[in-house]
Amino acid sequence: MGSQEGRRWLRNRRASIEMSGAEFRQAGHRLVDMIADLLDSMRELPVCRDQRPSRIRTRLPVGLPPSGAEPAELLEETAQLIFDNSLFNGHPRFFGYITSSAAPLGALSDLLAAAVNPNLGGWQLSPMASEIERQAVSWIAEFIGFPKDCGGLFVSGGNAANFNCFLAARAAKAPWDLRQAGLAGGAGKMLVYATDEAHTWIQKAVDLFGHGNDAIRKIPTDEVQRADVRSLRGQITRDREQGDHPFLIVASAGTVSTGAIDPVREMAAIAREHDLWLHVDGAYGGLAAALPSASPDLKALADADSVAVDPHKWLYSPLEAGCALVRHEQAMLDFLAQPQSAAAWPWSTASVAWSSRRARCYSRSTSASAGASPFICLPRRVFSGPSARPRQSAPGRYSKRRDGSANPSTIRCSRVGASGPTAS
Ligand SMILES: Cc1ncc(COP(=O)(O)O)c(C=O)c1O
Repeated sequence: MGSQEGRRWLRNRRASIEMSGAEFRQAGHRLVDMIADLLDSMRELPVCRDQRPSRIRTRLPVGLPPSGAEPAELLEETAQLIFDNSLFNGHPRFFGYITSSAAPLGALSDLLAAAVNPNLGGWQLSPMASEIERQAVSWIAEFIGFPKDCGGLFVSGGNAANFNCFLAARAAKAPWDLRQAGLAGGAGKMLVYATDEAHTWIQKAVDLFGHGNDAIRKIPTDEVQRADVRSLRGQITRDREQGDHPFLIVASAGTVSTGAIDPVREMAAIAREHDLWLHVDGAYGGLAAALPSASPDLKALADADSVAVDPHKWLYSPLEAGCALVRHEQAMLDFLAQPQSAAAWPWSTASVAWSSRRARCYSRSTSASAGASPFICLPRRVFSGPSARPRQSAPGRYSKRRDGSANPSTIRCSRVGASGPTAS
């Protein structure tokens, strides 16, 4: 192409990422129709089809395509590919693990968020989205009995929510200025206490944040996999005597393997006694604290310094939506806010957080995530409990595979129809 021809081409070029309102409407209506048909027919489909990577890969072109495609066609083709080659965790016979059957309203809310694309790095950049999210955080807190004036942050899931609470705890309880001097700034190790049944986010946290695995004190469990509080108390005392710095007790409100709930009330008392931070990992079961029938230990998450919950599990929010709640908002600001970024953005009340990502951030006046907006539609549904499916039900006989918890992943379906394999 000559330079003149090239310039003409550039002038007349129409990038396929641009769409007129009419084109958007047409493509969007078609996609919404396809999704609505999928939702209506899902119970008749298999939970999943042949998922060998070699088979799936043959459906995709090899190498970078030499030319583009019409957006509407591309969208339709991609939707069909996804529909035909997915494992449907919204299927009534899906029992593989605890992931929401995402609420259709959540899908529409994600479309809305993506279209406006609010940047929650600063309140002025996203006024209404920021306020909606602040409200959603406070509703989640209120829902589970946690102080509704707490600090909060929407993040990508339970791992990230727990990380944030870990960091808030560390900043609050470090005996020296950790932010300035780092972990090497004081003598002795900073220690965290959890059982072997706790989720692996703890290993990831001590690794990511520079403590190393030796910083975890494993607390033995009783016969139903709950933390042994006598051992916990004894271990903390011994560690203190040796000059180390216990700072965090992690209680599980529902462990991954059995759904065990730690003795949160006693752990809270130990934390108070020793001036430690009590964090409750409620990613799995914390939202059940809203149930009138929740056990006293589950309800005791209200006494924690921080709680992590996962709206993308029990609240039917589409992935990704985890929520970190910190009792005292200032404790969250103390580890998140960067004074220099506030200075660089004098027109913003926000102190931009390092953990901000795709419309997720935490600031003095906002706590936010576009991904969390689906929560707005949820409270009526959550009362139906962990193994409930919001839209569909499937025939079959169900039995619990193990004793001791309401863990939905331990349920076995004994009758298998055309809809797919037995899940257990
Ligand atoms: C108790 C517990 N904590 C943390 C997580 C991690 O959550 P996510 O997968 O949303 O990051 C899970 C996930 O199943 C969990 O059950």
